[in-house]
Amino acid sequence: MAKRNVDSEVLYTEVAKLLTDLKQCVVLTGAGISAESGIPTFRSLGGLWEKYDPAVYASIEVFRKDPSKYWILRGDFIRNYDSYQPNNAHLALAGLEQMGIVRCVITQNIDGLHKKADSKHVIEVHGSLREIYCLACGKEYRVPHIPGGTPPYCSCGGVLKPNTVLFGEQLPRDALTKAQEESAWCKIMLLVGTSAVVQPAASLLFLAKQNGAQIIEINIEKVFPDADYFIMKKAGIALPMIVEEIKKIPIL
Ligand code: OAD
Repeated sequence: MAKRNVDSEVLYTEVAKLLTDLKQCVVLTGAGISAESGIPTFRSLGGLWEKYDPAVYASIEVFRKDPSKYWILRGDFIRNYDSYQPNNAHLALAGLEQMGIVRCVITQNIDGLHKKADSKHVIEVHGSLREIYCLACGKEYRVPHIPGGTPPYCSCGGVLKPNTVLFGEQLPRDALTKAQEESAWCKIMLLVGTSAVVQPAASLLFLAKQNGAQIIEINIEKVFPDADYFIMKKAGIALPMIVEEIKKIPIL
């Protein structure tokens, strides 16, 4: 049961105090944090998986047979990687890192917005759309030098695949190991804008909880019943409010 689950000034003050007292905060983010940057989520009302079956459009098995399916989905999701900007939630998390409160951000997002917001320690467990590589010769292309087309092709004629995790693929081993270490170490896990249903990323939350971390959830609907604190608000509003509360706390 959440200790507090209302959106009130008292809650922001309590959360700010907890973050300042304990520090050692690790953040787990999902598509909801980028919604205010204009990027669609997957499972919310009107989300991408309502229109596209992930087993067809986002599986490595189908990609190998018919890559155009994925690239059609991609056109509806993030057409132009460079055209999206971090919002106030990404910026607030970067600020919390600078304050020495947030140690790292573990993100399931592939949009690169945490890095654009200048968070220094970002673990992209599902990869990133920054790089794309050829399934035939392995040649890498990086934004903004990514060929167009549905699907795009390498100069060798091979099909290009983004450096992101599709269903049926393993997560990048180093990223997952690091994310597990950070989750087991943290005293607070801030869960922002994720439905926390896709494994193994969702298991990080349980790893943190089992190791005694307090869980603070920020979401427009509650997804984690065992959260210690729940702020039912858009991330782009809630996170800057927490930062403002922290600034009011006198430094001893
Ligand atoms: P989901 O689409 O499953 O969940 C998004 C969550 O964000 C929901 O719980 C929403 O209530 C919440 N939300 C929406 N707008 C918000 C806002 N402005 N502020 C705060 N919360 C908001 O996205 P993920 O949990 O990220 O994986 O999905 C996990 C993985 O499933 C993705 O990385 C992707 C997908 O299949 C792969 O493709 C491998």
